[in-house]
Amino acid sequence: MVLEKVSFANVPEENSSIVVGVYEGGRLASNAHRIDDSLLEIIKKNISVRKFEGKFGDSLSFVSDSEIYNNIILIGLGKKDTKLTEVQFEKLGAKIFCAASFLDETVSVLLSKDDFSTSSEDFLLRLGFGSLLKSWSFDKYKTKNESKQRLRQIVLISDNASELAQKFNSFQKLSEGIFLAREVISEPANVIYPETLAQRAKEELTPLGVEVDILETEKMQELGMHALLGVGQGSIHSPRLAVLRWNGSSNKNDQPVAFVGKGVTFDSGGISIKPDDGMHEMRYDMAGSGVVLGLMKAIASNKLPVNVVGIMALVENMPSGSAQRPGDVIKSMSGQTIEIMSTDAEGRLILADALWYAQEKYNPKAIIDLATLTGAIVVALGHEFAGLFSNCDDLADQIKLSAIETGEKVWRMPLTDHFDKSIDSDIADMMNLSKRGTRAGGTTAAQFLQRFVNGKKWAHIDIAGVETCKDNLFICANNGATGFGVHLLYDLLEKNYIK
Ligand code: BES
Ligand code: ZN
Ligand code: ZN
Repeated sequence: MVLEKVSFANVPEENSSIVVGVYEGGRLASNAHRIDDSLLEIIKKNISVRKFEGKFGDSLSFVSDSEIYNNIILIGLGKKDTKLTEVQFEKLGAKIFCAASFLDETVSVLLSKDDFSTSSEDFLLRLGFGSLLKSWSFDKYKTKNESKQRLRQIVLISDNASELAQKFNSFQKLSEGIFLAREVISEPANVIYPETLAQRAKEELTPLGVEVDILETEKMQELGMHALLGVGQGSIHSPRLAVLRWNGSSNKNDQPVAFVGKGVTFDSGGISIKPDDGMHEMRYDMAGSGVVLGLMKAIASNKLPVNVVGIMALVENMPSGSAQRPGDVIKSMSGQTIEIMSTDAEGRLILADALWYAQEKYNPKAIIDLATLTGAIVVALGHEFAGLFSNCDDLADQIKLSAIETGEKVWRMPLTDHFDKSIDSDIADMMNLSKRGTRAGGTTAAQFLQRFVNGKKWAHIDIAGVETCKDNLFICANNGATGFGVHLLYDLLEKNYIK
């Protein structure tokens, strides 16, 4: 379920409910002047009787007893004069959604720039965006309609309503990209596998003007993509490489930015099979590709003036009589050979060919890959940060800035010659595990990828810990995927690649 609408209006709707801000200490926010005196008295009484403290994000709701409004929802704004970041405004929007979702069909929010000492009403955009992001949940497989959400519409009250509504359009479209990513990532592996995910990409993106090209096994064999094909050879579902091209720049020949996503639609581990405990979560192992898909949708529907190529490397990693074995040696598209030490370190294998293809075919300005690549990054950074690896400080800094701006946090991790050497093999050019005892599994996986970018400007984001919503760290339902990366990389493009 998702909110049908975030809209803007000059005055609150009658027969709806209203959201009123309260600072710590019980003071009402400035927009309270829009409420008549008798209702104000009721609000003040509730604040004192129910000891509402106004802590940031806390809420209290009650029936209004007035002719005009149904329910009053008080939302805590924290200490007065604290400067809120854009991400905090999103969080406030999410809290408002949660507080209001069970009450009414429409709720009007009475918050103004004076409440936050900001100079414009634009904060309402991020607040509305936060409500929208929080309203998404993955419930299509619940047949008993258990969701009690009644809220359909949030109306943000401002004197600049029409200007804000115009500006909100691009957030609305961005959210649709994020929801597409969340949806395909959350889908189970019996529904989403390489063929169906590639098909979905085509259906979603072609109408938006994205060129979608789907490479099947034969074509990949011709190209020599044996690292990718090897991972998929044990599954009845054959691999795909979905290549998505958005030519938004006025100069068709502008070098594109390339985004490459790991798309293992199910990672059983293959012959190096995973333990049963938690294996079902490996249906999320295509999150990198899901994010690339959602990102392309957001870019194309907002018609960003930039050239972008998105590559989804799609395989299912299964054990069977035809599956790849530990000990096999394969030749990648780059010509470099790989000794397979574990069939469960499969993400780096498919990315090896996808990265090589991206850099060779499109000569991109920068390549950024996203992958649920290692359990080790989750050990290092938990569920709060994605791991960022890069061969270019400028690119890494740009990504770090966008991470702060969007709340999709990253933490930069090292790449070194020592770790690079640790993946040298005795019988081939490299192995897909590092030498025993090297540890630093997130880094050694990234070192492997670095051997396939041919010196191009590159960043790798290991999203293994952040792609499902744990501990309410992201503005997301707690039963599905976060779509981490769509907003981050959208922001990166907007800030750095648009002239
Ligand atoms: N898909 C997993 C990584 C993963 C782990 C994602 C936990 C999300 C949550 C990846 O393919 C994998 O199995 N990695 C192995 C690598 C090891 C064999 C070197 C791992 O991290 O254990
Ligand atoms: Zn694996
Ligand atoms: Zn995997």
